[in-house]
Amino acid sequence: MNNESNFFASCPRGSEELLLSEVNSFDLKGKSGKGGVSFKTNDQNAIQFILRTRIASRVFKELHNFNIKNEKQIYRNARNIKWDKYISLDDTFKITTLLDREANQTFNNSIFLSQLLKDSLADHMRGIFNKRPDVDIKNPSISFLQRIESFKGEFRVQVYADMTGISLDKRGYRQSGHMAPLRENLAAALVMSTDWKKETEKFFDPMVGSGTILIEAILYKEDIPPSYLNLKYDTTPYSFTRQKWFKDSDLVDWYYQEVKIIIEESRVKIDAFEYGTFYANDLEDSNLKLCKKHLRKCFGRVDFVDFTCDDFLEMPAPEDFAGLVLFNPPYGERLCRIEDIDGFYHDIGEKLKNFYKGSRAYIFTLHGDLRKNIRLKVSRKIEFQNGDLDCRLFRYELS
Ligand SMILES: C[S@@+](CC[C@H](N)C(=O)[O-])C[C@H]1O[C@@H](n2cnc3c(N)ncnc32)[C@H](O)[C@@H]1O
Repeated sequence: MNNESNFFASCPRGSEELLLSEVNSFDLKGKSGKGGVSFKTNDQNAIQFILRTRIASRVFKELHNFNIKNEKQIYRNARNIKWDKYISLDDTFKITTLLDREANQTFNNSIFLSQLLKDSLADHMRGIFNKRPDVDIKNPSISFLQRIESFKGEFRVQVYADMTGISLDKRGYRQSGHMAPLRENLAAALVMSTDWKKETEKFFDPMVGSGTILIEAILYKEDIPPSYLNLKYDTTPYSFTRQKWFKDSDLVDWYYQEVKIIIEESRVKIDAFEYGTFYANDLEDSNLKLCKKHLRKCFGRVDFVDFTCDDFLEMPAPEDFAGLVLFNPPYGERLCRIEDIDGFYHDIGEKLKNFYKGSRAYIFTLHGDLRKNIRLKVSRKIEFQNGDLDCRLFRYELS
């Protein structure tokens, strides 16, 4: 059980340093790279991390790494992997191959490279069971990742098993309905990038939409692991719980005990939620309804949030409000069309300047000219990738 392996936790682009601090906070030494953080530890610590991370999207465990000069060497090297510890005959699987730029230029066809790895898995399983599990591209029960990067004139291949299966940013509460929600772990990264003094300060999302930022702020303030939201419905949502190495290990009882603690402690915290910290507003009643639906699904209650349904540009600040204002206004494109988007951003700036003195505002929006309409001094800016959109979180001091 104390054997250490290499792990890779992926995250939305821009959140790598936050993820690294999260990894470090588990007493693990991590190294951040593009799109995630690698760290070395034992299985128990990795599971503990999966149960408590706010930022990671998925966590992968390295099964093998080797150098190759050409693609033929993949099959031969991968035959050393004990695939049967990670997959059973009644599982289905998928293999994804990611190439860096040089590997892409050399090998060109990532599907073929996945097939080479698949052949080694299939032959290993046939050698033991005379049979092999089936591939399922859409809904596999076990996923593997092959990363190939150029390395000292050769290529380095890393083969990983996806420990989580589900994407951890999917907290399990979302209902369809809102047009432009953020990924949940990106929302968590936004909240955690601010200087919100969560023990004492109020929090306001004036364009709350379906509530993604608000929900992450609540989880963060109350120190509730996001995993709680899935675990309360299903205690084994992660694919490692179906893998043989885990089922054969002495971690099983410990895991269920951890899950029980998370569920029980979170419930106690939720029962103690108090009114007075969280404020939420949206122009559209239908969005507020969706936000409340999401809050009920997460916490079973909405009474601790002060809701208003108003035009932010017209409404007064909530009474006695001082604290943190964090929101992502419409960008004026695609789904959220606004006639005069430059004027809209200008007015947001004026509203904040005149009505929110003594607070700090953080606005998450597109990188580019749009935010320049806000005539306030930016005191900090942090880069994030929101899907394929290049975005920034801007901080404004409203003194
Ligand atoms: C980009 S969405 C926010 C998405 C939200 N963060 C989420 O993840 O669901 C912008 C929201 O601003 C709201 N909105 C647009 N103009 C507004 C205004 N003048 N006052 C208040 N809310 C407004 C829209 O109804 C929409 O829900």
